[in-house]
Amino acid sequence: MAPYDRHVFVCTNQREASHPRGCCANKDGASIREAVKAAVEQAGLSGTVRVNKSGCLDQCEHGVTMVVYPEGVWYGFVTLSDVEEIVRSHLKDGKPVERLRLPDTCVNTSRCPHRGGAVQLGLGGL
Ligand code: FES
Ligand SMILES: [Zn+2]
Repeated sequence: MAPYDRHVFVCTNQREASHPRGCCANKDGASIREAVKAAVEQAGLSGTVRVNKSGCLDQCEHGVTMVVYPEGVWYGFVTLSDVEEIVRSHLKDGKPVERLRLPDTCVNTSRCPHRGGAVQLGLGGL
């Protein structure tokens, strides 16, 4: 069997509601992962695209977050209504959905404008 062309990781991490960074589970992470999986199957991509749930991707303030490899494209604030476009445009046609991409100023950097409070309080980790 040929290796996968793309591998998608969708965060489904669950935290208690009071956690300052929030979590993707409380923003429909599991449903979104199931929807991506179903849309991949429907698009006939099951053999070439693998969709996995993941633990925290450390982009919690941008949830629901997902990352697509091998390109390393990060998506943030993904909702159920975005799933069809991600699958069709990116996973099928190879064109990332620019409006949902997290900019470099957000991914793995303290410059992220969404992370201010948590980083300053030293709550940036798991
Ligand atoms: S809980 Fe989803 S990225 Fe951290
Ligand atoms: Zn950000």
